[in-house]
Amino acid sequence: MFESTNLELFPYPFHTIKEGNNYRYSNDLRKLDKNHQNCVVITPEYKKQIKRKRELLREQPEVRFQSYPHTMEMQWEVAEMLMNLAVDKYPEHFQLEKNGNHWTFHNNILNETESFIFGNAPSIELEPLDLIGRHFTTDFVLMVNRDDNLYLEVAQESYAALFSPHWNKGMSFDEIHGPVPFVSRTGVPLAQRVRDFLIRNVLPGEPWTRINWNLMANRWDVNYETFDTWGPTRYLVNSENAGELVRLRVEEQFFYRMPRSNAVLFVLNTQFLAMKDLKQRPEWLKQTYSILSDIPKPMADYKGFTPFIEPTVEYLKNQVEQLNLQTK
Ligand code: HEM
Repeated sequence: MFESTNLELFPYPFHTIKEGNNYRYSNDLRKLDKNHQNCVVITPEYKKQIKRKRELLREQPEVRFQSYPHTMEMQWEVAEMLMNLAVDKYPEHFQLEKNGNHWTFHNNILNETESFIFGNAPSIELEPLDLIGRHFTTDFVLMVNRDDNLYLEVAQESYAALFSPHWNKGMSFDEIHGPVPFVSRTGVPLAQRVRDFLIRNVLPGEPWTRINWNLMANRWDVNYETFDTWGPTRYLVNSENAGELVRLRVEEQFFYRMPRSNAVLFVLNTQFLAMKDLKQRPEWLKQTYSILSDIPKPMADYKGFTPFIEPTVEYLKNQVEQLNLQTK
C-alpha cells in the first residue's frame, strides 16, 4: 500500500482552521483559483496507487464501479476532460492523438496506450470512465442534476470511506448524507444548504474544492460491504502502536460542472499520513492533537474511530510533550 512521502503534496486537512479552534462540520467549500483547477496529480506513489486501485477494481468489480446504461455520453464527456487535464499538466507523461474519432491516449509512466473510437462504447472493453479512470489515482463520482437535486449515476471508487458505488448508486445528495451527524445552526439542514450551494455555484469553468478527513486503523478503505474485516482491526490500537497503525486519511475533493451534461463530477484524491510522520511538521502534530482531543462523540462514532481515538490522542500527547522538551 502507499502513504504520502512528499509532504508538499499532502493535502493537510486543517490548514484553514485557526490555531486553537476546533473542527466542526460546515459548508467548507472553496472556489479554486485559475492556477489550481487541475485535479490530476502525480505523486511519488503514483505506480503503487494505480496498482492498488486496479487490484480493488478487479477483486470487487460490482462494489467498485457502477453506472446506469443511459450514462455513456456523460462518461465520454468526463473521460475526455480527464485526458485533456492530464495532457495539459503533464505533457511529458501523457499524450492524446486524434485522428478524426479514432483517439489514442498514451500513458508513458505505465507504458500503456488506450485506443478507441471516441463516443463508441463497443470500441472499448470497459465503460469509458472505468477505462480512463484506471490511469488516475483519484476516485470519480458523477452526480446528475435533476429536480433541484443531485443523483449518483456513475462512480469508480477504490479508496472509499463509508462509501461504495454499489451502496450509493441512484441515491440523491440528501440520501447519501443521511448518516452524517450534521448539526444545523440555521434551522435549514446542513446537507440541504450544501446541496443548494453546489447546484448554484459549481458552474462550467468554475470548480470548487474542500477537504474531508478521517482516521483509519491499519486499513486504507472502509466501506459497508467489508465491515466484518475492518471493524475488528480498530481494537488493536494502543498508545504505543498508534504511530504505526493509525493514519490520517485525507480526501482532497474537487467539484466540476460538466458543460454538456450539466452533471457535477466529484473527484477524490485520497492520501494517508501515519501518526508517527506528523512530527515532521511540528505545527501539524500540535494542531492535530488539539483537534482530535476535542472531537464530539457523535462525530467520532459516525467516522468509526471511537474504538481507537483515546489511545491515538494519548500517543499524540506524548509526541507533543517530547517535541516541547526538545525545543526547550
Ligand atoms: C456531490 C458530491 C458529493 C458526494 C457524492 C458526497 C458523498 C458523500 C458520502 C458517500 C459520504 C459518506 C456518507 C455515509 O456515511 O454513508 C459523505 C460524507 C460527508 N460529506 Fe459528502 N459528498 C458530496 C459533497 C459534499 C459537500 C459539497 C460537502 C460540504 C460540506 C460534503 C460534506 C460531507 C461531510 C462533512 C461528510 C461526513 C464525512 C466525515 O466526517 O468523515 N459532501 N459524502
